[in-house]
Amino acid sequence: MSQSILILPGDGIGPEVAAAAKACLQAVAKLEGLEFTFSEAPFGGAGIDACGEPLPEDTLKAAEAADAIFLGAVGGPQWDHAPKRPEQGLLGLRKALGLFANLRPVKVFKGLEHLSPLKEDRVAGADVLIVRELTGGLYFGEKREGDEDAFDGCSYSRAEVSRIAEIGFKAAQGRKGKLTSVDKANVLATSRLWRKTVNDLSSQYPDVTVDHLYVDAAAMALVTHPARFDVIVTENLFGDILSDEAAVVAGSIGLLGSASLGASGPGLFEPIHGSAPDIAGQDKANPSGAIASAAMLLRYGLNQPKAADRLEAALESALQHEERTADLGGTAKGSAFAHSVLAHIHKEQVMEPAQ
Ligand code: NAD
Ligand code: IPM
Ligand code: MN
Repeated sequence: MSQSILILPGDGIGPEVAAAAKACLQAVAKLEGLEFTFSEAPFGGAGIDACGEPLPEDTLKAAEAADAIFLGAVGGPQWDHAPKRPEQGLLGLRKALGLFANLRPVKVFKGLEHLSPLKEDRVAGADVLIVRELTGGLYFGEKREGDEDAFDGCSYSRAEVSRIAEIGFKAAQGRKGKLTSVDKANVLATSRLWRKTVNDLSSQYPDVTVDHLYVDAAAMALVTHPARFDVIVTENLFGDILSDEAAVVAGSIGLLGSASLGASGPGLFEPIHGSAPDIAGQDKANPSGAIASAAMLLRYGLNQPKAADRLEAALESALQHEERTADLGGTAKGSAFAHSVLAHIHKEQVMEPAQ
């Protein structure tokens, strides 16, 4: 049976990295005997240009009907003063599809510690999963915007915290069994509810060790001792900020992929970086984060773990053996690196489990 993938290329480097991700999906599908049908829709700034809306109605309908959605990136200075910004389309899509759980894995591959701008001995062994709450907090609170004063409200309910904390606990069970909840409970009421809710749940997960860090201390620990973390669970804004920081622990923001999942319905898969207007149209963008997101689309969106393993292995070995893009100190164009990954997809022999 064919599975449908909606691609939202978006703006800036979005279409460049989305093309790389699509080519990789097509290559692994062929090798794994899978049938995917692809469609595309305008979104973000491209949606504004095409129909005056960052999330056009037809794009939302196509998203609801897809098995999985891939997004390049949205935004750019040309829409900064538009009545609706491209980013509002992304927030609207996350909310409309109920995508409350955003998984952002960061891994420093063995032998690639030197890609990090941090000291190699600091980053060695870092393997962190950031579980970011994605449909609550300051992003979706009551807002007022005037010339003299402005207001962004932040609220979280116990139910909202519980459902994302459960994702964090379950993820930790499948990894090293350690969950770090990040908040600002020394100042914020929402954070005190967050911490209480995580603690109340912890008795249901006796195999998971829980600790709590304030977000400022967590920001420091991520660059001083990134290997101390296993799973981090945190609210929307803190997760946004910490994940850009964590991405450079591994080398570059161009490396990190993400999965945004709801209780049911299609997931949305996107690199964590933005539209990078400074390098758009120059074939400089690292497609690795988009390709990592495509692997997550296979694993979490379409339940195709073998295809996901194959794509992840190819990406890792291309990063190890091939010329890398400029953000990682290399000289390769983005499209050349994507071709290297495609070559490794064909080379990789995924080990069959012993019978
Ligand atoms: P950005 O992530 O676009 O860029 C930050 C820096 O990282 C830039 O120097 C850029 O060149 C570099 N960079 C980003 N991705 C890269 C890649 N794949 N390869 C190499 N270098 C890369 O963040 P920004 O400049 O703060 O934001 C630009 C626009 O993107 C804004 O409109 C912002 O709102 C939007 N944005 C969108 C998303 C998304 O669509 N999910 C995420 C973040 C930012
Ligand atoms: C991200 C981005 C978005 C966010 C913006 C573009 C709305 O920074 O996905 O990390 O803040 O969630
Ligand atoms: Mn971000």
